[in-house]
Amino acid sequence: MADTVDTEIQYKIAAAREAVSLVESGMLVGLGTGSTAIWATRCIAELIHAGELHHITGFATSRATAVEAQRLGIPLMDDDLPGDLDLTIDGADEVDPHLDVIKGGGGALLREKIVAQVSRRYIIVVDETKLSPLLGTRFALPVEVLMFGWQSQRRFLEQLGAKVTLRKAGHGEDFKTDSGNIILDCAFGPISTPKELANQLAWRAGIVEHGLFLGMATDVIVAGPHGVQRLQRNK
Ligand code: A5P
Repeated sequence: MADTVDTEIQYKIAAAREAVSLVESGMLVGLGTGSTAIWATRCIAELIHAGELHHITGFATSRATAVEAQRLGIPLMDDDLPGDLDLTIDGADEVDPHLDVIKGGGGALLREKIVAQVSRRYIIVVDETKLSPLLGTRFALPVEVLMFGWQSQRRFLEQLGAKVTLRKAGHGEDFKTDSGNIILDCAFGPISTPKELANQLAWRAGIVEHGLFLGMATDVIVAGPHGVQRLQRNK
């Protein structure tokens, strides 16, 4: 078991390192959330301290990432995002062959999507267990909703075909996002028309954001037993 865990971490580190090789001095860099993206943040800090990267400014996709980046001494922008970021490195829960992804396992999907939408290059780092033929096959879709009237969102999502679970935090209380909302994890099974589903979710008042990140990733870096592979979106 310990070996499996170590191997998984090694893949996460390998994918993160490859992504960080694309960071150049002077860049504004979006810092993702989760157990893979955090290695990219650590690796950027290492290179700054080694004098190999200069004038990097980070923008964190969650409070947790901001805390780690500050601890590591990466200069951060405040909450006021500039026009755009040169590059963002983030993780994902599931990746399909079109490089569309599901995100939100860590509950940071809203801030992550805000950052993704202003990133010129949006790099996803994963180990190969995240690859999937159709989104929804391996992971329930996280949907962030307002507390107000949330049961009506639960019913709406069930009518769309999902088995819905209200996400809980460690001690049994409701999980709250950095923006104070709750997460409904929606097991749809394989989603054959993700764009259609994304439109239905976007239209619904009370749904703040959903974890379908379609057409956003420019690169997906995948690490596994056969090494590290970089997949790029066809332009
Ligand atoms: C955070 O909300 C998520 O979108 C993460 O990026 C995603 O869950 C991947 O996390 P891991 O790298 O920890 O699997």
